[in-house]
Amino acid sequence: MKKKILVTGGTGYIGSHTTVELINSGYEVIIVDDLSNSELSVLDGIEKITGIKPGFVKFDLCDRERLMQFFEDEKNITAIIHFAASKSVGESVQKPLKYYRNNLVSLINLIEGMQQHNVTRMVFSSSCTVYGQPDTLPVSENAPVKPAASPYGNTKQISEEMLQDVLSSDEILHCISLRYFNPIGAHPTGWIGEHPMGKPENLVPYVTQTAIGLRSHLRVFGIDYHTPDGSAIRDYLHVVDLAKAHVAAINRMLEGKQKDNYEVFNLGTGKGYSVLEIIHTFEEATGVKVKYVITDRRPGDVEKVWADTTKANRELGWYAKSSLAEALVSAWKWEQYYRKNYRKP
Ligand code: NAD
Ligand code: WQD
Repeated sequence: MKKKILVTGGTGYIGSHTTVELINSGYEVIIVDDLSNSELSVLDGIEKITGIKPGFVKFDLCDRERLMQFFEDEKNITAIIHFAASKSVGESVQKPLKYYRNNLVSLINLIEGMQQHNVTRMVFSSSCTVYGQPDTLPVSENAPVKPAASPYGNTKQISEEMLQDVLSSDEILHCISLRYFNPIGAHPTGWIGEHPMGKPENLVPYVTQTAIGLRSHLRVFGIDYHTPDGSAIRDYLHVVDLAKAHVAAINRMLEGKQKDNYEVFNLGTGKGYSVLEIIHTFEEATGVKVKYVITDRRPGDVEKVWADTTKANRELGWYAKSSLAEALVSAWKWEQYYRKNYRKP
């Protein structure tokens, strides 16, 4: 019998790609999502790619009673990947309590549900945002966590702390926190991808929406950083590589290979690219021009960050394999598919 994985937030951007990789690796997936930031049609995309429609139950993980009922109904969950969270940095500054409630209450409910229903394995979505501007680069998992620049970032720090405390009090529970750097791109088929609601905050969706004519121009937030071309540097990794890392983390847990019941891994490529390099690589790889203007820095942005991925390479046996150009081409393919089939520019 296939092992069943609960994927919370599974109709979202990273969750949908991970669902595909889990199915392709022989797992059964059941998704819980309240569709607050995703669409049900994602399930069709997953089915088109894998030939299998994952299980889906719609509810808000903050609804404790509903969640407990779910655990009663679904008795054979082997492990959980917990993606569900609100993730807009800007919105979190405007509505901090929405973020503290949604991201923390859902995690507390989930852990309590696990403890009460003997589900012992969880992979948690964390973020490189916990490092702030690191003192040394590339940044490894041992680098200090810096004061959060936003309520969103703070929810990730608090979540990690909470998990650490719970896991040191409960040796049955096992968790792996994955600190993602900047996930970009889409499935190579172009049938699932990132679909930000409203105006995108993140760079690559803004690039593809500008390229397709939905936005008049991209703003490059600052070219006065201490970087070779003056624009800020990030570690952009292909979402399919990221999805595969989740399968590796699940396998590690289920094979009993964890060295500690709480582990943390960076997930990135180990290489940084500037905003201008992203634009130029996109233009070269797709042949489509992106109109942009230079503006002031965006408040709260760090100058440069990229990952030391040694630990994930060694312990998970995982490497980010795709090139930046491949990731950008896939993002462009998805943007065109999405506008044609779902949302017109
Ligand atoms: P996403 O918004 O596309 O997916 C999250 C999904 O969770 C959505 O489908 C949303 O409807 C659902 N959801 C939110 N709150 C819920 C709740 N209370 N109950 C049930 N469902 C709920 O985001 P994503 O980019 O796929 O991110 C997934 C996870 O990875 C998040 O935890 C995010 O903070 C983290 N992360 C994302 C990035 C990034 O750049 N995308 C980087 C680092 C970490
Ligand atoms: C990348 C670079 C911008 C948009 C955020 C969160 C972080 C994590 C990933 C979840 C920066 C520049 C962007 C634009 C631009 N999410 N930019 N014009 O800021 O590294 O990280 O998403 O955990 O927590 O903070 O990603 O894609 O927003 O920006 O010039 O229109 O692109 O200034 O240098 P960021 P991003």
